[in-house]
Amino acid sequence: MPVRGADVALRDVTVGYPDHTVFSDLSMHISAGVFTGIIGPNGSGKSTLLKTIAGLLTPSRGDVSIGGDPPKAARKFLGYMPQASNVDWRFPLTVRELVEMGRYQFSWSRRIGRLIKSRDDRIAVDRALAMMDIQDLQREQIVELSGGQRKRTLIARALARQPRILLLDEPSAELDAVSDAQFFDVLCDLTDFGVSVIMTTHDLSTVLEHYQEVICVNALAGGVIAQGQPTSVLTEDVLRRTFGRELAIVSHGDQAAGFGAHQREHSTVPLGGELTLHVDEHSHTEGHSHGPQR
Ligand SMILES: Nc1ncnc2c1ncn2[C@@H]1O[C@H](COP(=O)(O)OP(=O)(O)O)[C@@H](O)[C@H]1O
Ligand SMILES: [Mg+2]
Repeated sequence: MPVRGADVALRDVTVGYPDHTVFSDLSMHISAGVFTGIIGPNGSGKSTLLKTIAGLLTPSRGDVSIGGDPPKAARKFLGYMPQASNVDWRFPLTVRELVEMGRYQFSWSRRIGRLIKSRDDRIAVDRALAMMDIQDLQREQIVELSGGQRKRTLIARALARQPRILLLDEPSAELDAVSDAQFFDVLCDLTDFGVSVIMTTHDLSTVLEHYQEVICVNALAGGVIAQGQPTSVLTEDVLRRTFGRELAIVSHGDQAAGFGAHQREHSTVPLGGELTLHVDEHSHTEGHSHGPQR
């Protein structure tokens, strides 16, 4: 059943935290039904941007529109999976019960007295469990789950809302490679039905293959660096401006010699011709950089 899509628009938005403005005068537009990746290094503002779209952070200036409405009015059709969830995994709750919470994630007060779940609720929860392939886990206690299973449960909770816009903050971080491919298939199916999927990642290796649009952000370098189809956006220049010191571009021949055993710590993107891009996912925190190697 096709879904009525909703465009996301930010106009001259200034947003951040009480003592720390992250974005100033940020404007962007994300079309309905598109699979969009938001990429940038650690601390570049990816989570802040998603929280702003989800209506969890209110801009001090400018406005956010979700299909013409402010985010709070659009909450009923927004599914959001936070990067760091506030779920207490020791809480005695089954997987199904946690996913059911997606049906009233943003509106406890209105629904709390309504203990009888509707047929629609049950169908939506069944579908969400099936999409994340965790039906068999639904009666397990959440304390028993592995990291990857927790991620799937949280994504299923966001899907249980049957959202028109699905916001996922670094969802693939703990999914293993096999479930990763399946996961992207599920997301592509959703966009075929008109759902917008907006997902942050610092894993560039998936971007060229899976995303229809990419938005490169770096709050410290002016906000949105570039937006468009991955193959046209992911140029050396844009990536340098987005990732700064974390970026290394090497020719294929230098790869083994230059990176050797550290290869697995890098996210790689073929840039065409002889060049491959490496983003060192640890240099930001560990404070070292490979610098450009050409
Ligand atoms: N709760 C918070 N309070 C204050 N500053 C924050 C908070 N969360 C993030 N920040 C700061 O906002 C900036 C952007 O962070 P974030 O949006 O989390 O980036 P990313 O998701 O790309 O890693 C960083 O400088 C970070 O330190
Ligand atoms: Mg983040």
